[in-house]
Amino acid sequence: MSELLENIKWSKDYETGIEEIDEQHHILVNTLNEANKLLTTDYSLENLQNITKDLLSYALYHFEEEEGLMKEYHYEKEAPQDFENHMKQHRDFSHKVVELRDSLKAGNLIEKDELISFLLNWLLNHIDKTDKKFGNFLQAKI
Ligand SMILES: [Fe+2]
Repeated sequence: MSELLENIKWSKDYETGIEEIDEQHHILVNTLNEANKLLTTDYSLENLQNITKDLLSYALYHFEEEEGLMKEYHYEKEAPQDFENHMKQHRDFSHKVVELRDSLKAGNLIEKDELISFLLNWLLNHIDKTDKKFGNFLQAKI
């Protein structure tokens, strides 16, 4: 098993400027680092299932928090395209993780690096392209 993935250090570059959102993103990055470490030393179907379960529940909680702020500050009305795109990304990600969990349940393993890079790439790309846009919108309001 390769160990291509390094620990991702939290960086100011990932900040949206909204403290509550940034804290949750930080937790997500730490969770992925921990998952990477655990799978490096103990790769098993059970660990893959626990990791994806915990990640999915925290991601859903986090998406709800962001979407609550969108509602509170009328993101849909003021930036309908950005709102739609953002919601779609949250939904697509949740579906992908549910599909992945179904596949694990059926006994199909996924390589550690494939899992961690999919999750990390999705998260960092979503933060950079989509959450920061919402962060800028919010910062102008509060
Ligand atoms: Fe988001």
